[in-house]
Amino acid sequence: MHSPTLPPPAQDRAPPPDAVAAWHSTVHLVVNGRPRTLTLDNRTSLLDALREHLQLCGTKKGCDHGQCGACTALVDGRRINTCLSLAVMHEGSEVTTIEGLGTPQQLHPLQDAFVRHDGFQCGYCTPGQICSAVGALRELREGVPSHVTADLQARPLRSPEEMRERMSGNLCRCGAYSNIQQAIAEVADAEEAAR
Ligand code: FES
Ligand code: FES
Repeated sequence: MHSPTLPPPAQDRAPPPDAVAAWHSTVHLVVNGRPRTLTLDNRTSLLDALREHLQLCGTKKGCDHGQCGACTALVDGRRINTCLSLAVMHEGSEVTTIEGLGTPQQLHPLQDAFVRHDGFQCGYCTPGQICSAVGALRELREGVPSHVTADLQARPLRSPEEMRERMSGNLCRCGAYSNIQQAIAEVADAEEAAR
């Protein structure tokens, strides 16, 4: 008996070109001061765009679920978890990663302070910690309250409790927290003294 011809299995069928185009977008970013144009699957996170498409692997993937802060980078000056954000949401944005903050010859003050205060062990969380600290100090300068700011009308104080809360989205499995706090406090003190 003649058997009917079955269609090929789904995984062997190439999607039509129109469908591929429909789920891809061209995104323009300025990453660490350099204009970059990427054509990406719309589902690509900003983290994967940085790591997989721009080879900027300083931004780390820890949980990929918004829980650890290892993927923190600055977008238009604000810190975000890049694993939770689609690259296509950032058309035209300026992105700063750890590679854009300083160089081995000329460290950013926070990078320098982390080294001197031994603010890391394995270093996996460190790029996220430093980018987050840059964002947190900017928020303090701008008077943005945190969840532990008692008086929402007053300028937030840079108390240890404030700084612990502001950095609470960045986990460190090595437990370098006290040294991280010392490094950030030193840079904040220097910034305040210079004003
Ligand atoms: S990798 Fe983004 S929060 Fe953990
Ligand atoms: S230094 Fe190892 S996780 Fe923070």
